[in-house]
Amino acid sequence: MQTHEIRERFINHYVKAGHAEVPSASLILDDPNLLFVNAGMVPFKPYFLGEQNPPFPNGTATSIQKCVRTLDIEEVGITTRHNTFFQMAGNFSFGQYFKEGAISHAWSLLTDPVDEGGFGLDKDRLWVTVYLDDDEAAQIWHEKIGIPEERIQRLGMADNYWSMGVPGPCGPCSEIYYDRGEEYGEYGGPVVDDTRYIELWNLVFMQNERGKGIGKDDFEIVGPLPKKNIDTGMGVERVACILQGVENVYETDLLAPVIKVAEDLTGATYGRSEQLIKAGDTESADYHAAHTDDIRFRVIADHCRTGLMLILDGVTPGNEGRGYILRRLLRRIIRSARLLGATGVTMEKLMDTVRSTMTPSYPEIADNWERIRAVAVGEETAFLKTLESGTRLFETIAAQVKGSGLTELSGDAAFSLHDTHGFPIDLTVEMAAESGLTVDKEGFDARMAEQKARAKADNRAKKHDHADVAVYRPFVDNHPTVFLGYDSTEAEGSILGIVAGGALVERAGEGQKVQLILDQTPFYAEAGGQLADRGQITGTGGAATVDDVQKTGKKVWLHNVTVTGGEFAVGQRVTATVDHTWRHKARQAHSGTHMIHAALRQVLGPTAVQAGSLNKPGYLRFDFNYGEQLTADQLRRIELIANEAVDADYQVNTIETSLDEAKAMGAMALFGENYGAEVRVVEIGGPFSMELCGGIHVEHSSQIGPVAVLGESSVGSGVRRIEAYSGVDSFRFLSDQHKLSGALASQLRIPSEELPDRVEALTTRLNEAEKRIAQFRTAELSAKVGDYLLQATMVGDIRVVAARVPDGIVAGDLRTLATEAKSRAGSDAGVIFFISSDPESGKVPFIAAATDAAVAAGVKAGDIIKTVAPYVGGRGGGKPAMAQGSGSDAAGIDAAVKAVRDIVADATGAK
Ligand code: ALA
Repeated sequence: MQTHEIRERFINHYVKAGHAEVPSASLILDDPNLLFVNAGMVPFKPYFLGEQNPPFPNGTATSIQKCVRTLDIEEVGITTRHNTFFQMAGNFSFGQYFKEGAISHAWSLLTDPVDEGGFGLDKDRLWVTVYLDDDEAAQIWHEKIGIPEERIQRLGMADNYWSMGVPGPCGPCSEIYYDRGEEYGEYGGPVVDDTRYIELWNLVFMQNERGKGIGKDDFEIVGPLPKKNIDTGMGVERVACILQGVENVYETDLLAPVIKVAEDLTGATYGRSEQLIKAGDTESADYHAAHTDDIRFRVIADHCRTGLMLILDGVTPGNEGRGYILRRLLRRIIRSARLLGATGVTMEKLMDTVRSTMTPSYPEIADNWERIRAVAVGEETAFLKTLESGTRLFETIAAQVKGSGLTELSGDAAFSLHDTHGFPIDLTVEMAAESGLTVDKEGFDARMAEQKARAKADNRAKKHDHADVAVYRPFVDNHPTVFLGYDSTEAEGSILGIVAGGALVERAGEGQKVQLILDQTPFYAEAGGQLADRGQITGTGGAATVDDVQKTGKKVWLHNVTVTGGEFAVGQRVTATVDHTWRHKARQAHSGTHMIHAALRQVLGPTAVQAGSLNKPGYLRFDFNYGEQLTADQLRRIELIANEAVDADYQVNTIETSLDEAKAMGAMALFGENYGAEVRVVEIGGPFSMELCGGIHVEHSSQIGPVAVLGESSVGSGVRRIEAYSGVDSFRFLSDQHKLSGALASQLRIPSEELPDRVEALTTRLNEAEKRIAQFRTAELSAKVGDYLLQATMVGDIRVVAARVPDGIVAGDLRTLATEAKSRAGSDAGVIFFISSDPESGKVPFIAAATDAAVAAGVKAGDIIKTVAPYVGGRGGGKPAMAQGSGSDAAGIDAAVKAVRDIVADATGAK
């Protein structure tokens, strides 16, 4: 039975029994505790918690939820049991049926004959487990269902008590297992062997509330829930294995075709390790090679499916959070394919295969295919470029580490692979492991933290602290803020709460920085790329300036204010006034962003998908997925189209509607929207621009004013950024540019149009002049070499020149000097060491060279450099014949020079 049909039968079974069918929620539901939805019940959380009433006519629902678990990506493929993506089919009862209903519904679906809509499983092969003291469930299984007592087993908290891992609903559960037969393991039920007995379904009897605590079995139970609920999860892939008579998910209709295509692309063969195991070989080198190959195939199949589903739900590859997980998955696919022997690109064919296996269940893949393909292929193109150069660098570093007898790659090396070649740390760790090395992850993390701290320094302290969300909880639950800002910039309201230093307070006085929570507000809170409004809040008692506004729980507006006079108290009436100029320019910038987005898609096609945006008064930037740099002509066209649309004076319309309606209208979909969500569509010029957006916009496009594109740049692999000014800031920018070129032209006494040619001619002349100066300097330095050679002293048979050369000689010139000195030494044994100091940069460059005869006598220039480097607080290395380094402490130069003779003496045994 195909997976698609398994899904259909599941849903039909429960719909027939009165359950409301709920489509899968997006994988990226907005839940601060979860990176991805990881269980079927997640979208139903508010109903279990009693926060909202379930909107289902009979109080029951059924769904097949997409789930992603990425805690143990490294485990994928090593066994056949870990999958990062899976589908959880479930039925949910909110205060309706309980244990008996859940058990009998599940049982009939599993065991009803196939021609009656069931899965037709053999009753005698089904085993169940119940929680230790859950006699009620055991009794139902035995007496109502008829399962013999010996096939009902009892397990403790860790196995048969389910919670979300955090405070919330929880309860004992009962699991249903299928016996795959004696060739899979020992007799004795799931308690003895959970490979032979494979878990198909978990029925959770949610009747208690979990308190704080750790993990699966160490938490407090606060008390009973007001209602008894049912949450179940059946593994669609597990059932597919049984019904398709295959050993594991990689052989099902969902993944087997992907492995087949991977075989074609790589020329390798899947499944050899299983054959060798059957032939009794688990030791030979051939077995190990086959096993490694099989793991790689499984990595490809698993990750392709997860990758496609994540892109479908709007994740784009990035360096943090969800984007990073996706990037890691995609890069693991690419690398595994290469290690299996693929030479060209592979992503498109692999993804296309996942598309065919998954589209029957997820028809929306078809609509989004172009975008999915573009994102996946874009990541491959970008990564292949860096993989090659990065791998070379990695190999050089790994060889150096091994050469010096070490086993650990430094944090600096890992960081430089990350920074310059986009190697995720996990890739470096994996490659290191394959070469028998470890990586100093702490060192790497420290370097990353430094980099992050630098990047964050400018917008620190802006967002509210997530650790304190509990403070806001009562407001989120009971007093969502009414937002009036679409229609007005000034409104009266009452202060519902004041938060100072993370705690609720009653009042706030002059000079304090606090958060004000109002019942209603005209202030726009930062969202969707638009920065928050600025302005004032004033009342009878006090006055404050609004520095920022953030939303919490999506519902409550937190006005971060500085009290400038008087005092505010909870309960007071106040007037909230948005700064007019700020709002005017913010609207211009946000609508301008939509113009640029629309123009961009006209010029680059629909695959240039938004990856992020930011707009604030007078300025906007727009990030999008695109594999290559835009040409000057493309940029010009984008700018022109956007400005023509501004000039067309289009009416701006906003429409509130359902997500499905919005998609049907052709609005560009926003991701992470829940089923049934109300959305807002902003339409400018009909089909020209239609986006889901909660931001604030102008009423007519001409109000945007000119949009002046500043430029285009890369922000990470496969993502480009366009920056532009809007409104009067565009004018100022263009006017400045105009003045600048005018000034340059008059300085050069030419018309402005000739500037580019003239600058090019001047640059060429300058380059030539610099080249000639360099030639003169080399000649001058060579002339000096003779003087240094005269200072040589003998160490045994070796002529040693170690000298501090004049300050300001840079590394490149030092090399010229050393090369010249070395060549003058001819076939004699000679060692040269030069060191300089650059007072300007504070650097201390140094170089060592050894003639062939000196190398033959045991001298290594690289060793000289390594030994003297610490004298000047530096580092360096190189080959025996020539090596260089750089330090920062000029005070150690004399000691370094002195040390050279001893190093040569030690190396050659001379005195
Ligand atoms: N929520 C239960 C699980 O994830 C059904 O296993």
